[in-house]
Amino acid sequence: MDKPACWNEERVGVTGCERCPELGDSRSQIVDGVGPTDAAVLFVGEAPGANEDEDGEPFVGRSGDVLDDGLRGVGLARADVRITNCVRCRPPDNRDPTGDELTNCRGYLDREITTVDPDLVVTLGKVPAEHLLDRSVGVTGEAGNLDAVTVDGEEYPVLLCVHPAATLYDPSQRGTFESTLSTAAEYAGDGGQSTLGEF
Ligand code: URA
Repeated sequence: MDKPACWNEERVGVTGCERCPELGDSRSQIVDGVGPTDAAVLFVGEAPGANEDEDGEPFVGRSGDVLDDGLRGVGLARADVRITNCVRCRPPDNRDPTGDELTNCRGYLDREITTVDPDLVVTLGKVPAEHLLDRSVGVTGEAGNLDAVTVDGEEYPVLLCVHPAATLYDPSQRGTFESTLSTAAEYAGDGGQSTLGEF
């Protein structure tokens, strides 16, 4: 796999990308993935929102609080996993990323996947699931199911999860969200024990 021009191997991130003119104009900053570059579990969301655009870190707003709580509930801390997005710049007005924007950013996501080389990729919501699996996904019905994506000749298991924000709009999705995270924790090593220890 060729290295995309703006990919910064040392930072496992992107420097100065201008592939999407609209996003390049509206973003405050590029929001790269965070967490260990050798994490066993890689969570993939859709795109940064306003809070992420401001802080420069994925999932730091209300969705991030839900994700952090869910991780804590299965004995994991945010720092135990890697968290990234399909698209690294905030789409204006919180719209979904366009097909072109997803395509423009795909090389970076693929590069992050092959660098981290996780045991499990967890898609948070419909957009990352459909983007990685290249098929339509009914995420509520398929949450908790395993599929797979091949990147640079290597197959990675993909666990489908509802988006954390979905649990805010529809609390009945909370159970599915939590049980999916508990499956993810089994991949995170030591049966999901984390640096949090008993806390
Ligand atoms: N939603 C996402 O999909 N990604 C984020 O980083 C924040 C909210």
